[in-house]
Amino acid sequence: MINGVGLGFRRDLYKILLDSSSYRPSFIELAPENWMGLGGQWGKILKEAAELYPITCHGLSLSLGSPDPLDWDFLKQIKQFLKEYSIEIYSEHLSFNSCDNAHLYELFPLPFCDEAIKHVAERIRQVQDFLERKIAIENISYYTVIEPQMDEASFIRSIAEEADCQLLLDVNNVYVNAFNHQYNPYDFIEALPLERVAIMHMAGHKQKSEHLIIDTHGEAIIDPVFELLDWTCQRMSPTPVLLERDFNYPEYSELVTEMQTIEKILDRNWTLAHAS
Ligand SMILES: [Fe+2]
Repeated sequence: MINGVGLGFRRDLYKILLDSSSYRPSFIELAPENWMGLGGQWGKILKEAAELYPITCHGLSLSLGSPDPLDWDFLKQIKQFLKEYSIEIYSEHLSFNSCDNAHLYELFPLPFCDEAIKHVAERIRQVQDFLERKIAIENISYYTVIEPQMDEASFIRSIAEEADCQLLLDVNNVYVNAFNHQYNPYDFIEALPLERVAIMHMAGHKQKSEHLIIDTHGEAIIDPVFELLDWTCQRMSPTPVLLERDFNYPEYSELVTEMQTIEKILDRNWTLAHAS
């Protein structure tokens, strides 16, 4: 079972992650869309990585909230990829990024309402039936709320229960949303069904103005986000935690320091669980 601290397997990082003298995270995470069906040099790199690391998959284009029909050909490829690389955890965003067959390069939030709960939970169930496994859905960062009938935590809880799926809890996204939409991030996490969390994400963000921060995955993690992770770990069973870093890469040693800081938090909270 995957545990410990992982790092996103990005093309800018592959060399250092495959280098035998580098610090090795416990696992790597990748977007299957970026790697499926690749041959040549990148196919070889993926095979090499799979020999060194357990892999988790974080999808980009399933568009769970879309009104369009699910893309079954795409799901067939996903199923094959998950099998080929023995992927334990496959996560996707609680959002939509396609509409009327147009694929948009943004993850759009869903309206927090009963109709959306029904729609997305049904699609998650269909995906899970097809893949013959549970998937984890991620709380995304968003900057506009669309006609909410309920708060976001209730929305996520209802979907998770109705679809009987797992959650990917992105701790930085909670912090970013709580700041931008002025709610308490601790209350938000407390209201989630934490027993469904299969994996967590940690990342950095950028403060753009006094009232706005942007989820960039391009900065160092700030202390309040580490503190939120620590508090969350006290309330749940061990899960793997991934450091997401997608651009503005620092020296690898800085990412190692961040992973080790996360690891200390996990160890402090979950030592007994690790030992058993
Ligand atoms: Fe994330």
